[in-house]
Amino acid sequence: MGVQCIDKIFLNGLTCKLDLVEKFKSHKIGNCKFSTILNTTCSELLNSASTVSESHEHGDGNKQIGLNSPSDLTPGVYEGGFKVWECSRDMIEFIENELKLTGPVDCLDLGCGSGIVGIYLLKLTGSNVDFQDFNHNVLKYYTLPNILINLKENNESFNEIWNKAHGRIKLISGDWSNFPNDKKYDHIFSCETIYNTDNYSKLTDILLNCLSPNGAAYFAAKSYYFGVGGGTQEFQDFIKDLPSRPLICEQIKVIEDCVERNIIKITHNSS
Ligand SMILES: C[S@@+](CC[C@H](N)C(=O)[O-])C[C@H]1O[C@@H](n2cnc3c(N)ncnc32)[C@H](O)[C@@H]1O
Repeated sequence: MGVQCIDKIFLNGLTCKLDLVEKFKSHKIGNCKFSTILNTTCSELLNSASTVSESHEHGDGNKQIGLNSPSDLTPGVYEGGFKVWECSRDMIEFIENELKLTGPVDCLDLGCGSGIVGIYLLKLTGSNVDFQDFNHNVLKYYTLPNILINLKENNESFNEIWNKAHGRIKLISGDWSNFPNDKKYDHIFSCETIYNTDNYSKLTDILLNCLSPNGAAYFAAKSYYFGVGGGTQEFQDFIKDLPSRPLICEQIKVIEDCVERNIIKITHNSS
């Protein structure tokens, strides 16, 4: 697990290229509008990046993996970050309409992918947000550009945006088993991350170590992931079966669809 260092050379290269991008993908979620960079832009950014140290980092031997492959996930290599998944939309609507979070608080977007949940928190609640993804290339060539284009106002340059925002942002890559446990978060948000039951103990360890005593974690996910096996029901059962029940979970939202989607809330069990 590594904190991504965004140095001046990398940032200048990225912002120069972003200045030339004319077309973004638009998303309207609740009352909010977001933009994400297109896969083609992401691919160009990756191609033009220096390969020296970056291609050796965890899970990114092939820099383009996930961008141009027919499969959404390649377990242990690429975990789906280059895409906006359905439940992240549910999470934003939930934060906006039900949680009504007013910041600033310390938040973690766990398994952030595009980062739109964290971007909502940065922009609309003024919170500090750590963005975590399995793949460092997702963070540097998809999440970060998305942060910059969504924070842009008027004629501000991307460098100015970064200078204003970087003290409130951290980009953390790698497997959940190595997540740093030196910080406590008021809120942890995580969308479409509980499809693989093999990861459940890693996720609950992060909650136990990194959720502040009065904090709350919210997971948005499908009730069941066909062909993979996990889902909100499995995850809740796993949490309820943890020895001495250190965490409490409740399902706080049901979204009926072909496959039901849910939001679950998890807190420390203080009793
Ligand atoms: C299906 S994507 C969802 C992305 C985003 N949250 C969304 O809803 O659009 C799953 C995310 O979980 C992260 N992830 C999955 N397994 C992981 C693991 N073992 N360690 C760290 N991150 C992991 C991936 O990096 C990926 O961004």
